[in-house]
Amino acid sequence: MSFIELQHVHKQYSNEQMVLKDITVAIEQGEFFVLVGPSGSGKSTLLRVIAGLDDTTDGNVYINGKDVTKFSPRERDLSMVFQNYALYPHLTVADNILFGLKRKGIPKDEQQKRLQESIALLGLTAYVKRKPKELSGGQRQRVALARAIVSHAPLCLMDEPLSNLDAQLRTQMRTEIKALQKKLGLTTIYVTHDQTEAMTMGDRIMVINDGEIQQVGSPLTLYNAPANQFVAGFIGAPKMNFIKATLTGVTLTLAEGSVLTLPTELAARLPQGEPMHLGVRPENIVRGKAITTKVVNVEHLGHETHSSVQLGEALWTIKWPGQQSVVVGEQLTIALQQYVFFDGKTGKTL
Ligand SMILES: Nc1ncnc2c1ncn2[C@@H]1O[C@H](COP(=O)(O)OP(=O)(O)O)[C@@H](O)[C@H]1O
Ligand SMILES: [Mg+2]
Repeated sequence: MSFIELQHVHKQYSNEQMVLKDITVAIEQGEFFVLVGPSGSGKSTLLRVIAGLDDTTDGNVYINGKDVTKFSPRERDLSMVFQNYALYPHLTVADNILFGLKRKGIPKDEQQKRLQESIALLGLTAYVKRKPKELSGGQRQRVALARAIVSHAPLCLMDEPLSNLDAQLRTQMRTEIKALQKKLGLTTIYVTHDQTEAMTMGDRIMVINDGEIQQVGSPLTLYNAPANQFVAGFIGAPKMNFIKATLTGVTLTLAEGSVLTLPTELAARLPQGEPMHLGVRPENIVRGKAITTKVVNVEHLGHETHSSVQLGEALWTIKWPGQQSVVVGEQLTIALQQYVFFDGKTGKTL
């Protein structure tokens, strides 16, 4: 059995609609497992169900081989880090870090030992006597992490812990958290709505939408082989471009009128005359002759050039390396190097 297993977990608040639908997933010991999805997709609910802060409507939660479905949070031996840090404003950094240990009645010398370890690890030694309001956002977030670490719980649940930080600090803390997690061998379940955070931190990622698992896999699996159009559009920045298309023989007609000829073997695998969506990543578009577009915006980022182009009603983004001369208003003719098709009704990758 894996370290954590969820089996057919359903969650419904009172008589409202299902917030979690048949969640079955296994998470390995020492894994950094990221739960990513749009706001309202059920990420926090799932984390709360694992923590025991919410009960399941149906299904089971196993931690370390034990069915903990009916266990209280305290009986589950885990720590949590939240977005808002939840620090006590009137307590010092040291007392905030030690709060849980005091409540559990851990002996004083053991408390001090764990405190010293954690503050050294997180660079908080100079701040132990301060109150939270005398700390920067990043330092407060480190205190919240220290509090999770001193519990010595083998499982740590984090719910958007970096959302309150500015972009630069967020990037730095990502690296710190990942390094710390590996060093301590902590099994971590990390919730975020930010696909970049998911891609940079996760050993594996689970994409959730509307309470349903869309796909579970390594960052590159999700990027290279998305199971459906939702995952394809959610993972990757700038986003994958889409357009409606239909196939007749080997002739593919795009919604805006362009006509492409597909390789015979590819056309043979696709449904004839059925609605499909073609998807192409911004970096897989080259200059060519297949499709005529009009440039509506250009972003010069220095190392990259992002161009927004109109194809009928669709607005696509093209990503080219370096500094390209693309001008707003010009006609740009392009070709597609790599692309993928999705079922027009189910969204499944074809
Ligand atoms: N205590 C609650 N009572 C009723 N509905 C809730 C409660 N908590 C969350 N929900 C609903 O469950 C859905 C998922 O919420 P949540 O898990 O917080 O999403 P996420 O963390 O992905 O943004 C939302 O539609 C939300 O309104
Ligand atoms: Mg949430």
